[in-house]
Amino acid sequence: MKVALLTGGGDCPGLNAVIRAVVRTIHNAGGECVGLLEGWRGAIQGNAIPLKAQETDEIIARGGTILGSSRTNPYKNKEESVPRLKDSFQRLGLTALVAIGGDDTLGVAKRLYEEENFPVVGVPKTIDNDLSCTDFTFGFDTSINIVMEAVDRLRTTAESHRRVMVIETMGRHAGWIACFAGIATAADFTLIPEVEVDVEAMCEVLLKRRAAGKPYGLIIVSEGAKLPEQDVVTHDAELDDFGHVKLGGIGDTIADVIQRRTGIETRAVTLGHLQRGGPPSAYDRVLGTRLGIHAARLVIEKKFGQMVALRGLKIVSYPLAEAVGTMRTLDLEFMREAEEFYKNV
Ligand code: F6P
Repeated sequence: MKVALLTGGGDCPGLNAVIRAVVRTIHNAGGECVGLLEGWRGAIQGNAIPLKAQETDEIIARGGTILGSSRTNPYKNKEESVPRLKDSFQRLGLTALVAIGGDDTLGVAKRLYEEENFPVVGVPKTIDNDLSCTDFTFGFDTSINIVMEAVDRLRTTAESHRRVMVIETMGRHAGWIACFAGIATAADFTLIPEVEVDVEAMCEVLLKRRAAGKPYGLIIVSEGAKLPEQDVVTHDAELDDFGHVKLGGIGDTIADVIQRRTGIETRAVTLGHLQRGGPPSAYDRVLGTRLGIHAARLVIEKKFGQMVALRGLKIVSYPLAEAVGTMRTLDLEFMREAEEFYKNV
């Protein structure tokens, strides 16, 4: 048994925990592992490195991915890339692939399984927490803790200057990061893609609280939130290999609106890729480890075309066909709870 691993899409804390766990479980079953470098790009090029249980033991504490990542999509140029990918697989003598990634990476895994009968198992990852069939994705917990620490720091400078700080978070078109960060930091208001932005309500809360003696304000805005009648704010018109826009900039727009409407000096901070960097939290190390063990077990049992997932306290699996293709937006129950704090003084 010779199992390949790859990590695709945006990196996220906890990827190395998955790699370590797959390698260890396959090793315990008498097999060996190799890592394909930089996502599907390495799979197409056949660019592989050996992965040994002993050598990967300490990577659990490292952020990012030791394999590198990319947003390469073999189906963008299917006629050339898919046969090359299959050739590389054969040349390297591989018997199975564990693909660790978000909806794009796992979407490729699903097509390879369905169209090429490719022996693949998927592991869901993203800081955005927007994948179907799993309660949480690893990376999300680390990410919201990074946002929380940053906002705790921004609070003191906001208070000193009697300003409003607008903090823009990642999350794509789902408000998980923003909503959880808003609750954890006692924000005055949180703006997410799933709920129409109510500028008036936000400004009213800021003004009421100022009048009642709170001299500063904290607003969390998800990068995918948008003003009514406007489109999402993007860095530029360029799309990635999977056709996604590069979100970013709504924080500045919201800061302008607040300053104009309330007269309160307002600044915007975009946390950007800081949210994906550094060592994973204990929760993400444990979740990544458990998912990795179960993905390897599926490989050993030759149960391909599946994605491992967290359901309650258990690690289960779903067919990739069921798991990919539908973005899981924020469960609005969380927002309704958060909103108790977004009204009155
Ligand atoms: O999907 C994860 C994510 O971090 C999003 O939250 C964000 O919009 C995007 O990736 C950024 O991607 P990149 O690293 O390509 O700029």
